Amino acid sequence: METAEIRRRWLSFFESKGHLIVPSAPLIHQDPNLLFVNAGMVPFKPYFLGQETPPGPRATSVQKCVRTQDIEEVGKTSRHGTFFQMNGNFSFGDYFKEGAIRYAWELVTTSVDAGGFGLDGERLWATVYEDDDEAIELWLAHTGVPMERIVRRGKADNYWHMGVPGPGGPCSEIYYDRGPAYGPEGGPAVDEDRFLEFWNLVFMQYDLSAVRSKEDFDIAGELPQQNIDTGMGLERIASILQGVDNLYEIDEVFPVLQHAASMTGKTYGAQSGPSAGESHPDDVRLRVVADHVRSSLMLIGDGVTPGNEGRGYVLRRMLRRAVRSMRLLGYDEPCLPELLPISMGRMKASYPELETGFGRIAQIAYAEEEAFRRTLAAGTTILDLAVDRTKESGSSVLAGDQAFALHDTYGFPIDLTLEMAAEHGLEVDREGFTRLMSEQRQRAKADARAKKSAHGDTTAYRGVAEALGREVEFFGYQEVSGEGRVAGLLVDGSAAATATEGQEVEVVLDRTPFYAEGGGQLADGGLLRLAGGALVEVDDVQKPIGGLIVHRGRILTGEVGTGEQVFAEVDIARRRSISRAHTATHMVHKAIREALGDTATQAGSENSPGRFRFDFNASSAVPVSVLRDVEARVNQVLLDDLAVRAEVMTQAQAREAGAMALFGEKYGDAVRVISVGDWARELCGGTHAEHTSQLGLVTLLGESSIGAGVRRVEALVGTDAYSFLARERAIVGQLTELMKGRPEELPERVHGLLGKLKDAERELDKLRREALMAAGANLIAGVRDLGGVSFLGHDLGAGASADDVRTTVLDVRTRLGDERAAVVAVTGSANGRPVIVVATNASA
Ligand code: SER
Repeated sequence: METAEIRRRWLSFFESKGHLIVPSAPLIHQDPNLLFVNAGMVPFKPYFLGQETPPGPRATSVQKCVRTQDIEEVGKTSRHGTFFQMNGNFSFGDYFKEGAIRYAWELVTTSVDAGGFGLDGERLWATVYEDDDEAIELWLAHTGVPMERIVRRGKADNYWHMGVPGPGGPCSEIYYDRGPAYGPEGGPAVDEDRFLEFWNLVFMQYDLSAVRSKEDFDIAGELPQQNIDTGMGLERIASILQGVDNLYEIDEVFPVLQHAASMTGKTYGAQSGPSAGESHPDDVRLRVVADHVRSSLMLIGDGVTPGNEGRGYVLRRMLRRAVRSMRLLGYDEPCLPELLPISMGRMKASYPELETGFGRIAQIAYAEEEAFRRTLAAGTTILDLAVDRTKESGSSVLAGDQAFALHDTYGFPIDLTLEMAAEHGLEVDREGFTRLMSEQRQRAKADARAKKSAHGDTTAYRGVAEALGREVEFFGYQEVSGEGRVAGLLVDGSAAATATEGQEVEVVLDRTPFYAEGGGQLADGGLLRLAGGALVEVDDVQKPIGGLIVHRGRILTGEVGTGEQVFAEVDIARRRSISRAHTATHMVHKAIREALGDTATQAGSENSPGRFRFDFNASSAVPVSVLRDVEARVNQVLLDDLAVRAEVMTQAQAREAGAMALFGEKYGDAVRVISVGDWARELCGGTHAEHTSQLGLVTLLGESSIGAGVRRVEALVGTDAYSFLARERAIVGQLTELMKGRPEELPERVHGLLGKLKDAERELDKLRREALMAAGANLIAGVRDLGGVSFLGHDLGAGASADDVRTTVLDVRTRLGDERAAVVAVTGSANGRPVIVVATNASA
């Protein structure tokens, strides 16, 4: 029996028993405790709790559900699916245990011809909560299930609650015996694969206040009335009625699995697993693909878009697991365009909106696959390398910093790293990873504080990114202007639909030629011309979160609205000037390494219009003569007019080509390499001049230390270098004028002048000292007797330095000798600072 038919029969059976058919709620429900609807009763929760009045005392539905806590089990068992549908019948204070049990028995055992599911009553088992004698009595009285097939079980199996505070109660489950081929005798307590649970009848009568675990919860009290909530796994009953092994093989899922098998050349079920009872890894992967493709289809259908948090992350993870499973099966091409339409084709009978909305759904899914392919291309080699190194070192734990680098640089979510490492038999140092993540968050917060215009809270950006559903396309390597669309607008850090003249805004376009600050290169500036006539002056461009390029600026005129077409124009002069600086940085880097050796690696840089600074590792100051050589070398190469090329290549190719790549930090399979002729090659994501001659001129301004073992050179490029040199020439001109000599004589002349000046100063000093001495002799006349002590007080006045005062005091004291006690006090003041020196002699 097809799944859609089971569904139809379910609904019409309960409709015939006076139940109102309630359409499935979307997977995203307003319940703040739930990521997704995870049970059929979720939309009815307020009715059970007596908070709202139900539209009738009885209801039935087939509810879409997603549960992902057991995602690792998908494909390995016959029972775990991330998306499933739950057939439910509900009574809000109407019928209770007896009604629920009688309806259940009737529907499952009524023959197929008579509209039921036609299961053999002899194969059915029931479980009840340990002390629920009433339920046992009802099973015995109203069904064909004998005492031998009724089992009492504890809270873990037969008490149902939502996992969060809410309604709950003891339950009774119905199991189907699939026969000895599936496992040993003994009922559900012995083997849950052979005895498959497919229907749960919950006698919902308590209000749970705290839920600590499945078995540990507090009951706040009884619900206002006794209710019934039942849930039959549609996929499970389908697997029973379709006579297949598991839910991946039912009609709604299997065609995707089969197609995935034919795409990868695998034969499903052909091989047995590594140990008895286990599935072959290929079969597990095929099931994962089939399950996750369908779940993704349903999630996107209900408005979820891939993201890095919450629901978006669950979806992203499933899409990525599907794509990766296909890769592991040997299929490297985009697979969703093949598989998603098949899944939609199977699900549309029950959910026609999937067909009408398929354009949107497919676009989101395919874009995510593309983005993930890029991520994988970049990070897989790195992961493999890290795995090799870990194994070589004899460890079985991949270091936290490796996992962090993969996350930070290549967007590998930790789950992916964990899974991929596990495939190589390695664990991951999660603690180390988490620590680095939180350190990075702290840094990001500090950065955000430092950058006035940046918003530390990235929620709004994430919202825009989710709505866009893919990365912003950057086409600024090829073009400096082009069309785009306003994909998001932020005012004061919050999303806005429109913004108007004079406002500071952040604009996200779906595609842009604007280079966002990064890789040591400052952002482009420029203009956004909106289709509606508005103009936005862009003065900063940032990437606040991965894949999102944000233009910051001010609306010069008009009104900007999301969705509007834009013509984006980069300020070409600024871009060229920055690009020249960036190319010059590469050249200086190369020349410095030629001069100092390969240990002089880059430690940082900033490329701004017409100037740059370049930090590098060196243990001591770089002699001026070396700097001069570096500058000369760069300017020489610049005249050679080397072509500057950007190429994307594998890491291995880049290494082979001699790229100055910081392989220790910047890993990647596909890397962008900038070559300056055959002379300098390095990994770089920035923009550059096309030929070295466009740089015109490079002038190093000097070199300094910026920390232990790190030096910094600053330099000017192009017209800025020219203006600097022109200014220096003007100064030299003025000096030669003053010195009345030729420029080349200037140093000698200045040297001569300085020598003369020094001689003159020395002479002056001598004269002054002599004058003070002479004055000292005269001062003696002013010595007074203060009670047997000789005292001299004298003020040398303004202009007398501390030295002068001290010299005078000592001179007078010497003259007075040691016969009588003497005190000499002299004051003066130099540069506005008073000086007092008091001296006593040995007799004082
Ligand atoms: N709420 C119960 C379950 O999810 C029955 O619908 O199993």
